[in-house]
Amino acid sequence: MKKACVIGWPIEHSRSPLIHNYWLKKYGIDAAYEKKPVEPKDVSNFIVNLAHSEFIGCNVTIPHKESVFEAIGEADEIARRLGAVNTVYLKNGKVRGTNTDGEGFIASLRYSYPAFSLKGKTAIIVGAGGAAKAIVGALLDEGVGRIGVINRTRERILGLRGQFGSHVFEINEDTANDELGNCELLVNTTSQGMHGQPPLDLEIQSLNRDAVVADIVYTPLETVFLEKARNQGSPVLGGLGMLLHQAVRGFELWFGVKPEVTKELYELVAADIQKVRKQ
Ligand code: ATR
Repeated sequence: MKKACVIGWPIEHSRSPLIHNYWLKKYGIDAAYEKKPVEPKDVSNFIVNLAHSEFIGCNVTIPHKESVFEAIGEADEIARRLGAVNTVYLKNGKVRGTNTDGEGFIASLRYSYPAFSLKGKTAIIVGAGGAAKAIVGALLDEGVGRIGVINRTRERILGLRGQFGSHVFEINEDTANDELGNCELLVNTTSQGMHGQPPLDLEIQSLNRDAVVADIVYTPLETVFLEKARNQGSPVLGGLGMLLHQAVRGFELWFGVKPEVTKELYELVAADIQKVRKQ
């Protein structure tokens, strides 16, 4: 029987098995997807020996995305751009890696706001870490014209600009209000607002009311930041859609079927998130 897994350390919290096993059942595929705890010291061995293991591929989560990239000989252009891999598969017996975080964000946005066009638009990204890089790259690929970045550590904004060019610019306290008033998309890519962490502290009174406001955090399903945006009339997008859509390509690579993200799947995972919270 074909088997795939998600590796991380710890891995207990991962919702990937719920997603992939839902699809395996839905498409009648006789295969399994499981959680596999892999310690940091064992990551390289796990990846290098994947072709000789019981698994045909894996997803990669915290803290292994960068070390898997280092271990993989054949990472594609998107993974190289990010220096991080979240999806591993075998092709002609060789271990290959890619990264679907950016496409997951775009697909989630398109799913919820099909009429929203990114071409030539201005986006504002909060955060400048790995998730920000994935989303900035994907937005530029979609033809976004300008991307302003707000981040606690200024050097990381300059790093993004160095990598992606002058379409990416720094937003500071002096320019924030003007830029928020003129943007069409605002995305929190930091972990602020996640259960157990303080909410994102960003003043959005001046925000263009037509701008879509997105968060990559999905625990809770709607962060305090998104609730604030929704209350002032903004269209909002929670992080769970990105989690579901980033899973699509891995499933297709391993099992040969492009799976559909449905409302039923969304509700299944959302219920699990809410259940854990109530425990
Ligand atoms: P990921 O790969 O999930 O994006 P990361 O690379 O560690 O994680 O990046 C986390 C981002 O969240 C960074 O932009 C970080 O800001 P710094 O670059 O200043 O470290 C931001 N972040 C995390 N916690 C934060 C906090 N409490 N206040 C402000 N920014 C925070």
